[in-house]
Amino acid sequence: MAVTLAFDVYGTLIDTQGLVAMLRAIVGDRAPDFSRAWRERQLEYTFRRALMQNYVPFAVCTAQALDHTCDRFKAPLTAEQRAAVLEAYRTLPAFDDAADGLARLRAAGFRLYAFSNGTAEAVRTLLDAAGIAELFLGIVSTDDLRSYKPNPAVYSHFLRAAGAAGAETWLVSSNPFDIIGALSSGWRAAWVRRSPDAPFDPWGIQPTVTVPGLRDLAAAIAG
Ligand code: LAC
Repeated sequence: MAVTLAFDVYGTLIDTQGLVAMLRAIVGDRAPDFSRAWRERQLEYTFRRALMQNYVPFAVCTAQALDHTCDRFKAPLTAEQRAAVLEAYRTLPAFDDAADGLARLRAAGFRLYAFSNGTAEAVRTLLDAAGIAELFLGIVSTDDLRSYKPNPAVYSHFLRAAGAAGAETWLVSSNPFDIIGALSSGWRAAWVRRSPDAPFDPWGIQPTVTVPGLRDLAAAIAG
């Protein structure tokens, strides 16, 4: 059976820091910190909502996290600015290595899927805008289960949806919580460590392989 690769989307293929230039016009030099705080709060909301079984779509977590971050930074947005920022979030840019790295893996015979907390519609919009949608066999969203990573149920759901077996499946993600979630479900996992300073969680669980970017993935997985 061909090996299946499930790609995390936000932070792995798509740059969640991609709106810093736009945010600079609103919060000035605090834009990089603001952007990181927004992303962290967005993920915290997904964890809490999965735990509480109080689901709202990922875009709602994103919008509520933006509002919280504006409060925290005392940087109120006008209705127009808020709408423009959230609209831009729908077409965040891909990382430079995404198209090339994915094309190499596809040519090497791997089965590629996008596997995300984002709804299928939101993920398709991102991948289309980045020009990489055709490289995937499909999109699997945790929205199908009205839950979020790293609920173990979403990793099982992926395997059913992709017709894959855990032992033949790799998660590819820059998010340590996602890597640990997949390893705990019996998958293998490649951590895309996009910054050499990025820490991993000290849980006594290690990624199967660690790569600095997507161009290195084919060799790391084959090896
Ligand atoms: C995703 C989030 C976790 O794309 O980045 O699923």
